[in-house]
Amino acid sequence: MAANRTSIHGQWSSRWIFVLAATGSAVGLGNIWRFPYITAEHGGGAFVLIYLVCIILVGLPIMMSEIMLGRRGRRSPIHAMEVLAEEEGRSRHWRLVGVLGVFAGFFILTFYSIVAGWTLAYILRTVSGVFNGASAQETQDIFNALVSDPERLLAWHTIFMIMTVSVVSRGVKQGLEQAVRYLMPALFVLLLFLVGYSATTSGFSEAVSYLFKPDFSQIGPSTVLVALGQAFFSLSLGMGAIMTYGSYLSERASIPGTTAYIGVMDTGVALLAGLAIFPIMFSFGLQPEEGGPGLIFMILPIAFGQMSYGSILAFIFFTLLMFAAWTSALSILEPITAWLVEKTGYTRMKAAICSGFVAWLLGLGSLLSLNLWSEVKLFGMTFFSLMEHLSVNIMLPVGGLLISVFAAWCMSRSSSFAELKLSNNAYLAWKVAAMFIAPAGVILILLQEVFGFLG
Ligand code: PFF
Repeated sequence: MAANRTSIHGQWSSRWIFVLAATGSAVGLGNIWRFPYITAEHGGGAFVLIYLVCIILVGLPIMMSEIMLGRRGRRSPIHAMEVLAEEEGRSRHWRLVGVLGVFAGFFILTFYSIVAGWTLAYILRTVSGVFNGASAQETQDIFNALVSDPERLLAWHTIFMIMTVSVVSRGVKQGLEQAVRYLMPALFVLLLFLVGYSATTSGFSEAVSYLFKPDFSQIGPSTVLVALGQAFFSLSLGMGAIMTYGSYLSERASIPGTTAYIGVMDTGVALLAGLAIFPIMFSFGLQPEEGGPGLIFMILPIAFGQMSYGSILAFIFFTLLMFAAWTSALSILEPITAWLVEKTGYTRMKAAICSGFVAWLLGLGSLLSLNLWSEVKLFGMTFFSLMEHLSVNIMLPVGGLLISVFAAWCMSRSSSFAELKLSNNAYLAWKVAAMFIAPAGVILILLQEVFGFLG
């Protein structure tokens, strides 16, 4: 029965295109903006090691589950979950996993588009050469001038959203596929170029030992949980983005094989981003621990401003970051757009514009919370940080937990076995990970969140 299912939205031209698109979704601000600063905040190499364990034990089994549900359901997450639940004789309420994903997608886009807008703004700044010889105070002033100016932020937010909608509105083959076909190879080339440059700097060996020599004394009680959360966000799991991409995957492609590629590439890019960024900072005696979320926007430009050809390297860096953010944003808007097409019969163009407009509108909240509304707090957080917190730390883990539980506990062995096409032993390993290890890991994050909230 599964063999003759197809999605009304089309199918990827090849398994490689799927791997590129899913890698495009996974590789984003999470890898290049967030991974370096939280690695720095949580003890370097020890954190990286734990992160890798989380990717393998929790992330990859959930990713296999998500692709499997998408491909079997052949619809956007809400409808895919509905159909699969019915087929497996389970409650229709499983569709709520998809509903949660739609909300998570909107929430993520609200801040994602704003940070992506910063990267656009920074591409222009590097061209104008403002970072040449800039001091720490000056780079900080440049960043603050941007975030405190609602009109400039609005312009960049709008441009980024139009870029995203214009690709999604063209559909799977003409839009998503064409974008990732060019952007992803460009991203890899730019990244390798930067790593190549960093390898020639004096800080390279310090960076290598910083990233790969675990110093376990640096590990605190929250390290595992932060690593697990980062693994989730970075692999784009828990909101149906990967499920939607999986629904366009051919029957013949191997799910475990493609999952392995995506996992390796996403992790590889995060590590390479570290190998591009830290050597440059160490060479100039800058301390990554002090950067926080501004690491990339405030600290790195100090180093760029002091090196020869710094403007060119900075231009390459922020272009890379923008490409990465763009291909991820596509995958956040796609499930919502696909759902709207299925639900209302709208053309893809109309559906993409509607979902993009709602995301743009909500994004205004994040935008204003950086300046005019910076004093407005809900649960002690600005709109921007509330959206980030709710989506990344709560909705994605809950979504991932439910996806894993449905795939491993609610689907019949024959269905999952037929989709995954694993050997008996490998199937058993997936089952144990998806049934026990991944849910236990996620529950751990959530408990920490709840107690963090209460405490
Ligand atoms: N994985 C993306 C990143 O690392 O930036 C973020 C993301 C994309 C999260 C898509 C969730 C998602 F569905």
